[in-house]
Amino acid sequence: MAQVKLEKVSKVYPGDVRAVAPMDLDIAHGEFTVLVGPSGCGKSTTLRMIAGLEEITEGHISIGGRVVNDVEPRDRDIAMVFQSYALYPHMTVEANMAFGLRMRKHPKEEIAERVGEAARVLGIEELLERKPRALSGGQRQRVALGRAIVRNPEVFLFDEPLSNLDAKMRVQMRTEIARLHHSLGATMVYVTHDQTEAMTLGQRIVVMKDGFVQQVAPPLELYERPANRFVGGFIGSPSMNFLPGSLAQKDGLALVAADGSTICSLPSGFTPPEKLMNQRLVLGIRPEHVTIGDGQTAVAANLQVLESLGNETLAYFQVAGQPVTVRCPGQITAAIDETLNLTFDAEHIHLFGADDEGVNLLNEG
Ligand SMILES: Nc1ncnc2c1ncn2[C@@H]1O[C@H](COP(=O)(O)OP(=O)(O)OP(=O)(O)O)[C@@H](O)[C@H]1O
Ligand SMILES: [Mg+2]
Repeated sequence: MAQVKLEKVSKVYPGDVRAVAPMDLDIAHGEFTVLVGPSGCGKSTTLRMIAGLEEITEGHISIGGRVVNDVEPRDRDIAMVFQSYALYPHMTVEANMAFGLRMRKHPKEEIAERVGEAARVLGIEELLERKPRALSGGQRQRVALGRAIVRNPEVFLFDEPLSNLDAKMRVQMRTEIARLHHSLGATMVYVTHDQTEAMTLGQRIVVMKDGFVQQVAPPLELYERPANRFVGGFIGSPSMNFLPGSLAQKDGLALVAADGSTICSLPSGFTPPEKLMNQRLVLGIRPEHVTIGDGQTAVAANLQVLESLGNETLAYFQVAGQPVTVRCPGQITAAIDETLNLTFDAEHIHLFGADDEGVNLLNEG
């Protein structure tokens, strides 16, 4: 059993760089966990501490119930796949994949069997005799994965393994990794700054910012109940719209600016707790939860840009000096500078604190 447990694990690099604040994380055996966050938030540092490649400043890390703080990386029963494939250029694919096992002096037959099996799983059997330079980026990435698979580790650690690939190959490899997780049943910890990758791969996602964990939750919970404004804005593409103001009764409920003018009216189905009235806050609404045209009008907005993607259209508006993006299914026709009515979906309005922390004010109760 290979649970991975972090207890108050922190990292301070020389020069007093606080890369990771004391962090608790419990990863179940066989779970696929994704660490996601913007550049520099401490994802790689966390992963490298689990791998044993980076000393931890405080706390305990255990793998399969055993504290591994002082265990060498090679004795942790983990395999790590990096962004740079780091294949040996002078060795064939077969030799690259077998290298770790040969170093550990595994019997020849066993090595051949494990390499053959990994090559079959990854669909690279016909590439075994080639050198890395004769492979495409996606094929090299498969070899790097294969090198991890043959080790048959309890825990896989991935650090942005797909970021060198083009968009199409990334999607393909993403499904391959998901399939791999399904068939191997191993514990996997995956680092990415790409929220789509996180949402599609992770059974649980850890959102980090500036070395601090912001929220740990399954993908849909992150999407529907973000803990704070940062998570709300980071998860989902295009990003959630934010409108600062306060709630007041003005011909029904409205979001009003500091000078009392109405920013937008809110749908009658939206009933926030009374205690949130008349205080500064930030309203959040995702582009897919705003509709153009019919229904109760929230606000008349000026269309700035229209992006037609075929299956959907992204319309960019300006509301009280703030940008508001609307995602419409299919295609729409409207002229730039046209004024259109926008309506917010009552079920999907979020309210966040107006301070830096910006906690989700609707999450409690
Ligand atoms: N060896 C080091 N010495 C000092 N500071 C470091 C070292 N390695 C990383 N850092 C700092 O620690 C912080 C976290 O770095 P880390 O590499 O974990 O970020 P990351 O989330 O993986 O970012 P990215 O998405 O860019 O890979 C950053 O501020 C970084 O500059
Ligand atoms: Mg990194």
